[in-house]
Amino acid sequence: MKNKGFEHLYIESLRDLYSAETQLTEALPKVEAAAKTKELQLAVKKHLKETEGQIKRLDKIFQSLKESPQGKECAAMKGLVKEAAELIKEEEAGAVRDAGLIGAAQKVEHYEIAGYGTARTFARLLGHEDHAELLQETLDEESMTDEALTELAETMINDMALNEGGGSAKAPREAATSAASGSSRGSTASSSNAKK
Ligand SMILES: [Fe+2]
Repeated sequence: MKNKGFEHLYIESLRDLYSAETQLTEALPKVEAAAKTKELQLAVKKHLKETEGQIKRLDKIFQSLKESPQGKECAAMKGLVKEAAELIKEEEAGAVRDAGLIGAAQKVEHYEIAGYGTARTFARLLGHEDHAELLQETLDEESMTDEALTELAETMINDMALNEGGGSAKAPREAATSAASGSSRGSTASSSNAKK
């Protein structure tokens, strides 16, 4: 007999991922629209397509469990999406904002990598080998997306951001409000692109 409590935790972790992916399908088009660099737009568009496929994989798992995917809101993804929206609001379109958007996207990927890795391991422990395979496929996609974003930052966008005129995208009259809200400008793009 399976451990009911552990099975429940597994299902809740899948619901969290389902909510995270659903939120992302709404947020990614906004990130694509905010990105200035064509390469970043394409990377975001590609990941939106992947995300739709990832939701289908989760749907399959919920069907086999005869459970609903609804009922949980991923608070972490809500926060990560909110931070990205703030960045879009605070920075003018350009390479600096793109560098920030890559950092924001990588925070999302790392969250998902942790979530899918955990869910995959739970699936194996609970004897759902078919689920584990589906979750591993998504996990591999998330890791590849993360690596592609690192490459895009390190081979292109970070340099463009460094060389973008003036270093600050804000007009002087707006600078005071940015400072008051705690500017992290300039520190995100390079430090979050850590290679494995
Ligand atoms: Fe995803």
